[in-house]
Amino acid sequence: MVTVRAPATSANLGSGFDVFGVALSKPADVVTVEKAPETSIEVLGAGHQYIPEDPDKNTVGAVAESLDAPAHIRINKGVRPASGLGSSAASAAAAAVALDELYDRGHSREELVPIAAEGEAIVSGDAHEDNVAPALLGGFTIARNGGVTCVDAAIPLVVCLPDIVVSTRDARAVVPDGARMNEVVETVGNAATLTAGMHRDDPELVGDGLYDSIVTPARAELIDGYEGVRQAAFDAGATGVTISGAGPGVLATCKPGARQNVGVAMLDAFEVAGVDARVYQTEIGDGARVL
Ligand code: HSE
Repeated sequence: MVTVRAPATSANLGSGFDVFGVALSKPADVVTVEKAPETSIEVLGAGHQYIPEDPDKNTVGAVAESLDAPAHIRINKGVRPASGLGSSAASAAAAAVALDELYDRGHSREELVPIAAEGEAIVSGDAHEDNVAPALLGGFTIARNGGVTCVDAAIPLVVCLPDIVVSTRDARAVVPDGARMNEVVETVGNAATLTAGMHRDDPELVGDGLYDSIVTPARAELIDGYEGVRQAAFDAGATGVTISGAGPGVLATCKPGARQNVGVAMLDAFEVAGVDARVYQTEIGDGARVL
């Protein structure tokens, strides 16, 4: 039997749509695997009632198939589905590490990225790697066709999760088909600034680099109260604010010491919009870990 903890993640970081991701120090999923003649899945914890246990429909079923590693897989969800916090990626990454260990397959973490991403395709229709890469490797990750680059970084973060559901499929449906050249130039500048900020552990630069005028405005329409929450976070001292992944979670970067105020301000602003929410004071954390 092998048990693995894999963290929630925040993908996109505004300017890095489908490319950037960070591992969060909390929350996390915990997955336990045990050899079995056929794969079976049991789901407990946050939002378990919305997650199919059929291996053909669950993200970890595809991982078990891809590794040729049939097992009974128990998923304890710390990361609610449809949150924008990489819920399916956390389960897929944990299962990939656990099954690889259980069957002694010997894959590196980098080699497990595309395998875990297959699970994402079950949920969102696309095998993008911007959540599974940080869930497996930790830190700040840049995932593209040429492979994954990982940078250790220390940035204080606040994630505010409203009690509304936005599916990744719906959030991808509103992504514009194209962008104007001035928007592309601005986005490249912001993404480069964010990357430099990660190297320097600089929450001001990272916060500046979160800005995105292409995808985020379209998706903000799906999150009741988003504009008010964004403004409240800035007023309370956030250095940058954007949608976490496909939403509805909202991510803020902060200087050390500002997380408490920013978290309270975001919660209050969601309340003004009539939306219940919870907040995580977190930071960039480690990838999946065998327990
Ligand atoms: N990059 C993806 C998106 C992450 O924003 O649609 C969600 O899984």
